[in-house]
Amino acid sequence: MNLATIAGLVTSVCLIPLAATAADLGEHAQEEVVLPASGGVMTPDLPSIQTNLFTPGCALSFCHGAAMSANLDLREDASYTSLVDIRSVEHPTWDRVEPFNPNESFLICKLEACPELVGQQMPLIGGPLDQSVIDVIRAWVAKGAPESPGVAVDANTWGQVKAIYR
Ligand code: HEM
Repeated sequence: MNLATIAGLVTSVCLIPLAATAADLGEHAQEEVVLPASGGVMTPDLPSIQTNLFTPGCALSFCHGAAMSANLDLREDASYTSLVDIRSVEHPTWDRVEPFNPNESFLICKLEACPELVGQQMPLIGGPLDQSVIDVIRAWVAKGAPESPGVAVDANTWGQVKAIYR
């Protein structure tokens, strides 16, 4: 696959979400977005984010695939353990994904180029994601960033568990 094809693929993910319905899960959170090129509907759960964004737009072999840029693996079956409750390499006081806290999750910061940004805004190819795509990822984090859709994470229990080993 040549660079032009990859750029086209990433751009199709990034630029023009057509329809978005918003069940507000807190600030900026969004329930789903339709991606025009694939026609895929991205919902706030990891399998959908993986299929619609991480695999086609991030886990490229020389990025967060085999190359594991910034020691971040966004390939299927690796992204959860590489993101959730894992300290960022570039911003070590933040986790890449802090369950229930999208505003202090470095993944969201890298996508939105937040004031705490270190390094470049992501994705590096194809320009920034549309905010409505990021808002679906925010909704997943705001729900506690569960690994699979059927699992509900309770914020209090999460806090207690975290207090034990952090
Ligand atoms: C939407 C897709 C992508 C996401 C979600 C993403 C996410 C991230 C995150 C969270 C970091 C910081 C990791 C840390 O501090 O621990 C990072 C760094 C990095 N990513 Fe990505 N990335 C994406 C696409 C890409 C692509 C397509 C490339 C390659 C062309 C790439 C190359 C890099 C590199 C080289 C770094 C380290 C240097 C820097 O931050 O500028 N990423 N990415």
